[in-house]
Parts: sequence; C-alpha cells; structure tokens
Amino acid sequence: MENRIEQIKSEAIEALKEVADIEQIKSLSVKYLGRKGLVTLFLRNISQLPPDQRPEAGKQANITKKELEKAFAEAISDIENQDQGAQANAIDVSLPGRPATRGTLHPITHITRQICSIFGRMGFDVAEGPEIETDYYNFEALNIPKYHPARDMQDTFYVSDNIVLRTHTSPIQVHIMEQNAPPIRIVAPGKVYRCDSDLTHTPMFNQVEGLLVDEQISFGDLKGILEAFVHEIFDEQISLRFRPSFFPFTEPSAEVDILCVMCRGKGCKVCSNTGWLEVLGCGMVHPAVFENVGYDTRRYNGFAFGMGVERLAMLKYGINDLRMFFESDYRFLRQF
Ligand code: DAH
Repeated sequence: MENRIEQIKSEAIEALKEVADIEQIKSLSVKYLGRKGLVTLFLRNISQLPPDQRPEAGKQANITKKELEKAFAEAISDIENQDQGAQANAIDVSLPGRPATRGTLHPITHITRQICSIFGRMGFDVAEGPEIETDYYNFEALNIPKYHPARDMQDTFYVSDNIVLRTHTSPIQVHIMEQNAPPIRIVAPGKVYRCDSDLTHTPMFNQVEGLLVDEQISFGDLKGILEAFVHEIFDEQISLRFRPSFFPFTEPSAEVDILCVMCRGKGCKVCSNTGWLEVLGCGMVHPAVFENVGYDTRRYNGFAFGMGVERLAMLKYGINDLRMFFESDYRFLRQF
C-alpha cells in the first residue's frame, strides 16, 4: 500500500515535468488532488486496509498530498514569473516612438551672437582673450595701478599674487592693441569672474567688450555706434541717455541708460524708481592705455565699451531671476 502512494507521487512529479502551461498543471492537480483524484481516492479507501496498515498509509498519503499541493503551486508561480519577465522584456511595437529631443541655444549664447552680429555689420571683428590673466593685463595696463581705489569695484579671484581670473573683458583690448597696429575695430565676448554671489550677482558672468581705434575719432562716433546698437537690440523707439561716469581706462567715461523697459520711465522696482536702466559702460580710450601698448597718442584715439550679457538678456527678455541662466531648466531654455 505504501508503494502505491509512492507510485502515485512519482507519477505526478514526472507528469509535472512535462507540462507547458498553467492549464495543464491545473488539470494534473485535479487528476491527483481533485475530489475524484488519485490521492483523494487513496485516502478515502484507507478504511478498507487492514487496521495495522492504516495509520502509516494515512500519514504517507497526507504527506504526499501536501507535497503535491506545494509542487503544483510552485510550478504555477514559476510559469507566471516567466510570463511577467517576458512581458517586461518585450517591445511594444504599437507605442509611438520617442523623438530625439533637439537642443536649443542658451539665451546667453544667443544674445552674445546677436551682439557680435550687430557690431559685425558695422565693421567690427570678433576677438578673444584668456580667462586667466596677469595682474598687468587685467589692471595695470588699463590704468588701474595697485592700491587704486577702482580695484575695489571688482572683487578679484587671485590665482596667485600676480595671476587673476579676469574680472572683465577689457584686458582683451590690451592684447589686441599689442598685436595689431591701428585701425582697430573689435568686439570681444567672454566669461569674466568676480568674487561676488547674491540674487543679482554670480561669480562667473559674460561680457562683451568693444574697441575702436583710428584717427580723429570723436565721442560723437561712440554715441552714434552705441545708439545704433541699442536700437537694434532693444527696439527702434527706445530712448537712451549717456550719463557721465568714471572708468580708469577711459576719459571721458559714460554709462548708457535706456528708458526702463518695464515701466517706460514712470519708475518701478526694476529701475529702482529712476525710470532708467544702466546697460553698458563706455568712453574715449585713456591716453595712458595707448601709451602702455606703444600707440602714438598724437595720431590715434578711439573709444571702448563693455556690457554685461546676462543683464542685457534679462532686460531684453524680461527675466527677473539671474539664476535661471545657470539652472539648465529645459522649459526655460527652450523658449529662446
Ligand atoms: N570693464 C568695465 C567693467 O567691467 C566695463 C567697461 C566700461 C568696459 C567702460 C569698457 C569701458 O571698455 O570703456 O565694469
């Protein structure tokens, strides 16, 4: 009798090896464990065995029943897991494809190119210079001696005693003049660095420098060129003014303001109630700078200007948070 239950069990285990799907397992389960299943019938018939065999046969039959229940359940869950794995790996060919996302120019790149192109049409070439500078190019040659109070205006990152991260693009003027004889007409875009960080300042930002050197250049030429530039980059109608200012490398110096793009001169938070917004610095190149590069100051003169690109972009596009330029949020960047 014990042999009989052993036999049923090994038959069932063998049959289980051959199954291919859950339906087949379920019918095996019925065949062995169902109401008329072989194990069930065996259990039911135990009472007909000789009394001394009954306890052992009952025990074996119950063990077998449990083992088979477990084996069938495991076989079912194996197949289910396989199915899920296959589904996860399958490619759903009915889904729409994922288009490749196209990049856009960063607003700073965009506006820098626009600035260079406007001046390009007025005959200016594009020049570049190093971001790591000597004290000489960043300050001395531009008529800013050591301990001059003007150095305070530009909190400087010192690499060593004599080497700095350039605080402005003006040193490019000096490199260009050292390497070229007049006439000169260049704009020079680039990154600049100042030890300054708050809501309206970042330790790195972008400037565009301008320099024109020739014979008999007047402040009127400077005004004409910058007026044409401002009108092109903002709009034809915008009012601008030249306000006297000071830079060590220009004399006379001025700052250019435009009528506030937010309130049109009425006074608001953006223009600190002045009605005007400063957009760039400029002036006639100081003779001391020409002397430093060996230009004949009796023959040549010229003008220079410098502007902050982030600031221009904020005014042009109405962006009120400088941090937007550095966060690389695609929703922001793709608007330009
Ligand atoms: N370098 C100045 C700054 O960073 C900006 C500037 C002002 C540049 C006047 C010039 C200039 O070339 O003529 O604040």
